Amino acid sequence: MDTENGVQSKKLSGASYHIRTFHVSMNLLSHILVGIIVGINLIFVFRLPTPLSATPQHIVLCVLGFQLLMAEAILSLSPYNTWSLHLKLVDKRRAHTVLQIVGSVLAIVGSFIKIMDKHNNPNAVNWDTLHGIFGLIALVFTVASLINGVTSLYAHELRRYLPSKLSKITHICFGIVVFVAANISLCYGFEKNMFRNWISTTNNGPVVNTLITFTALLTGIVVVAPLITFFQKFKTN
Ligand code: HEM
Repeated sequence: MDTENGVQSKKLSGASYHIRTFHVSMNLLSHILVGIIVGINLIFVFRLPTPLSATPQHIVLCVLGFQLLMAEAILSLSPYNTWSLHLKLVDKRRAHTVLQIVGSVLAIVGSFIKIMDKHNNPNAVNWDTLHGIFGLIALVFTVASLINGVTSLYAHELRRYLPSKLSKITHICFGIVVFVAANISLCYGFEKNMFRNWISTTNNGPVVNTLITFTALLTGIVVVAPLITFFQKFKTN
């Protein structure tokens, strides 16, 4: 083991050693942020009486779908992601597919629960808040991303009907839009009075702002790798 580590550190000397350390640290930070963001939402919901009403159900499913499973699905393909590091490419893709499908289903159901709840309330109007509008964008692109995720998975078989590069580029692009829109929606969710009043009764500003900063940081770390791949695929015709 020692020898192995010795060989590893010899191979990765100089700049690449530091770059790898930076990437691995960013990856660790992203998992910590996922834990904090998802954990706080779950604590917020599970102190409420059961059976949970529509809004808490909506929060649990959306946060588990978008911020936990989709974040991990995107990270699973990163060469620096700790838990998928040892997996063969084919197994990384399998993990990515399973996490995306389960995450998307939770996110879609969670969004619809709240959309229908508002729809059935005569005093409410759908899509009247920025939280809801960004949630809708995330929802629409989740469905689109699920469809062209399948075409990306079978890109080779479908190459006669659909250029494989096109389905892969659009899949990356849709995935980025989903994650960014869902996180913007979540930040507006943190601004809701029900959340602000719970997180702190005295001085709620800093806590909510910290959570929004954490969410922005998580979004940046998670989408940077797909963004690079997106532009690389564009450049190499
Ligand atoms: C990834 C996270 C989330 C997404 C994608 C999301 C998405 C949505 C969507 C699509 C709607 C329906 C909008 C409409 O029909 O007009 C909605 C409504 C709502 N959500 Fe969320 N949500 C998220 C997290 C949260 C959180 C964390 C809270 C509270 C702490 C929250 C509280 C609400 C409330 C109170 C409504 C009804 C009022 C409104 O439309 O703004 N949501 N959300």
